[in-house]
Amino acid sequence: MNSTSIRAVMLNIRAKKDSRQVIKSLEIKKGNTIADIGSGGGYFTFEFSKIIGTAGKVFAIDTNQKFLSHINKILKRDKIQNIKIVISNENRCPLPNTSYDLIFMRNVFHHITSPVNYFKNIKNCIKPGCKIAIIEWLPTNIKWRYVGFPGHCTQENEIQKIMLDAGFMHLKSFDFLKKESFNIFQKQSL
Ligand SMILES: C[S@@+](CC[C@H](N)C(=O)[O-])C[C@H]1O[C@@H](n2cnc3c(N)ncnc32)[C@H](O)[C@@H]1O
Repeated sequence: MNSTSIRAVMLNIRAKKDSRQVIKSLEIKKGNTIADIGSGGGYFTFEFSKIIGTAGKVFAIDTNQKFLSHINKILKRDKIQNIKIVISNENRCPLPNTSYDLIFMRNVFHHITSPVNYFKNIKNCIKPGCKIAIIEWLPTNIKWRYVGFPGHCTQENEIQKIMLDAGFMHLKSFDFLKKESFNIFQKQSL
């Protein structure tokens, strides 16, 4: 196993915790089209792929080509056809021209340097009614833990303000994750 595969496996082990409840909360249906932005090791990408079936599509989108290559190897090995990998730019997400039902971002928000512009761009690429689920590390006082370092977390009210400024409506929040906030936003119907 190379170092990227090891990092991918580590990310996936951490992603698995509480994932059942996260996925249930997303209310994904067969045939849905989903963008997993910052897909990392692909834990959620592969879980979504099983639920949406052959009529749906998951786009695994990341700035890290090595993670995408890791996912691609699994796609080829397991002959999975409803996942497409897409390399992303840090400041502008190249959402392929399609009708998304859900944009999913877990622990990626703190990487986005101009979030209002970033999400305004996303808003222009999606259909009314499309949901955006954002899971993000909550700030912590335990400085020695990775997420305690400045910049690797975001206050929940800051996320909500940024998304409102970008033109999204806040749909709901969940509080079952101990170390992360979990908010769902929506592009309003016309
Ligand atoms: C902490 S990992 C989370 C991975 C995955 N979402 C999960 O829950 O296991 C953050 C991921 O976001 C990617 N990333 C960072 N900045 C990004 C950006 N601007 N657009 C898309 N992906 C980004 C990183 O390469 C990494 O794979």
